[in-house]
This record gives sequence, C-alpha cells and structure tokens, in this order.
Amino acid sequence: MLEKDIERILVSEKEITHICQRLGAKITHDYHGKTPIIIGLLKGCMPFMAELIKYIDLYCEIELMGVSSYHGGIQSSSDVKITKDLETSVHDRDILIAEDIVDTGKTLDVISKLLIHRGARSVEVVTLLDKPAGRIVEFTPKYIGTTIPKEFVVGFGLDYNELYRNLPYVGVLKPEVYKKN
Ligand code: IMP
Repeated sequence: MLEKDIERILVSEKEITHICQRLGAKITHDYHGKTPIIIGLLKGCMPFMAELIKYIDLYCEIELMGVSSYHGGIQSSSDVKITKDLETSVHDRDILIAEDIVDTGKTLDVISKLLIHRGARSVEVVTLLDKPAGRIVEFTPKYIGTTIPKEFVVGFGLDYNELYRNLPYVGVLKPEVYKKN
C-alpha cells in the first residue's frame, strides 16, 4: 500500500542490515572497555537503533531523547526543540547519539553541545544516513551508515507528516505526494 508513494528505494532492507552489522562491529571495537550511553533521538531513531544495538557487543545503556526540527514539512526548521529530555545524568559518561539522518547538521550540533555542557566525557554520533549536501552547520558524524544525495527520503524511521516511518527500507517519496499537501 505505502509502496505506491515511493519513487525508488535508496537503501534496501538487506543493505540496512549490513550497515548495522558493520557499524555495530566498529562501535564494539572503538568502545572496548567502556560502558557508553547510547542516546536515540526520537522518533526517527527507533528502527535504526533497534537494529544497530543487536550488533553492539558491549555493556551499554540505552536512553531516548525527544527532539524535533521538522514541523511536518520537507524543510528542516532552524529551531531545535527538546520534546522529551533525558532521565539520566550524562556527567563523565561516553555518549553515542543514534540518529536517522544528518541533513543541515543543526540538530546534532545543538544536542552534542548540550551534552558536552552537561558534562559528558565524550560525545559521538552514529547516523544511518548522511546528507552532506544539506549542511548549513559544519558537522561530521563519526559513524555513517551511508551517504545519500540531497533528496527527501522516508522509511525506516524517517517520516513525511508523521507517516512512512514503518517502511522497512529508505526510499524517495514521489514529489506529487508532498506537492498535493
Ligand atoms: P538536521 O538538523 O537538518 O540535520 O535534521 C535532522 C532531522 O531532520 C532528522 O532527525 C530528521 O528527522 C529530519 N530530516 C532530515 N532530512 C530528512 C529527510 O530526507 N526525510 C525525513 N526527515 C528528514
């Protein structure tokens, strides 16, 4: 049903699994001997974080933070709002933020700085997708699943007007879908 709104698949289900295996192995290696807190940014992080942590073989904690920067459309807005704050202290902890996509870079820039300000020992970012052509703020995530062109994508956590997050792959939405709204 949802498939009819998708122009083409950009990252297939199989590719996402391979990406998570590769990133999980790298994170397991890099954080050896540490107990990081993996903080997922809601809501987009959900499927990616769930898949990724299966391949992280470490003692680690999982936390969620609600952040919104899109307000229903296809353009990132300049204000980053915290809609649900952490329930744990990050003081002296190694933090790995899990995100679905880095576009303008504003969300990760704001949240990384906030966590450092709160006393985190280290703050790194793992993102499923990187859209470097969309960058407004200089920001380079340490762990990148795959780089995509400057197109509006949905699926595997990514939404358009809160829909399509449940697609098992990442795809480009047909422009007529958002043009008619
Ligand atoms: P940034 O602050 O512009 O880097 O945006 C990060 C947030 O914007 C992500 O967590 C997504 O929620 C949203 N976003 C950016 N690009 C897309 C896209 O192509 N599709 C859906 N959401 C997107």
